[in-house]
Amino acid sequence: MARTFFVGGNFKLNGDKKSIKEIVERLNTANLAENVEVVICPPAAYIDYTVQLVNKPQVTVGGQNTYLKASGAFTGENSVDQIKDLGAKWVILGHSERRTYFHEDDKIVADKTKFALDNGVGVILCIGETLEEKKAGITLEVVERQLNAVIAEVKDWTNVVIAYEPVWAIGTGLAATAEDAQDIHASIRKFLVSKIGEKAAEEIRILYGGSANGGNCSTFKDKKDIDGFLVGGASLKPEFVDIVNSRM
Ligand code: G3H
Repeated sequence: MARTFFVGGNFKLNGDKKSIKEIVERLNTANLAENVEVVICPPAAYIDYTVQLVNKPQVTVGGQNTYLKASGAFTGENSVDQIKDLGAKWVILGHSERRTYFHEDDKIVADKTKFALDNGVGVILCIGETLEEKKAGITLEVVERQLNAVIAEVKDWTNVVIAYEPVWAIGTGLAATAEDAQDIHASIRKFLVSKIGEKAAEEIRILYGGSANGGNCSTFKDKKDIDGFLVGGASLKPEFVDIVNSRM
């Protein structure tokens, strides 16, 4: 089946009104492929601003994190309802930077995922192994453990996109090769077939993330289980348009 190509832009903790306006204007004025879904994820403080600027039907806006409660005394958090109110359609959850620096474990990621989905926001669910885990040969064990936690909570995977992001490739300039990424993606899909059924597993988009850029994106083009990218650093630059158009 044909899965719509998906490109997420994770701005991380970067940007101000001026630079975000430049990024969005580049997308607004570019000749973007029609059969692509682009989700740009600015810091929460700029979601509203970004939503107001976007004028391309292929492009929507997402958050980078949400809490697992609707409201209340949780200083510093952002709720699903709030980002949805600002116009966000998606949220990135389980990013390795959240898992590492903010100590989010598999269970919290799973609970947040369920909460976001139950409240009408799609989830870009990040999984991936560290360099130590890769060297120990336990990549699949790690991603299956991360997925199992979510599988225990989530029954309907329609509004989930998985981002396989090997931690050693994030921000390092050392992307996985397209061949290696395809192997892992195929294993992830096979695992999902056994857990959530063939139809859901065949429909789900599995993105690659980790130093994807304008120079290497085309090497992933003919890989059948690579359905797009989650882009960090390059999403802030003009080359993001090349990544978005890399399946044209
Ligand atoms: O969410 C995006 C990933 O962390 C990839 O970041 O493209 O800067 O390596 P990067």
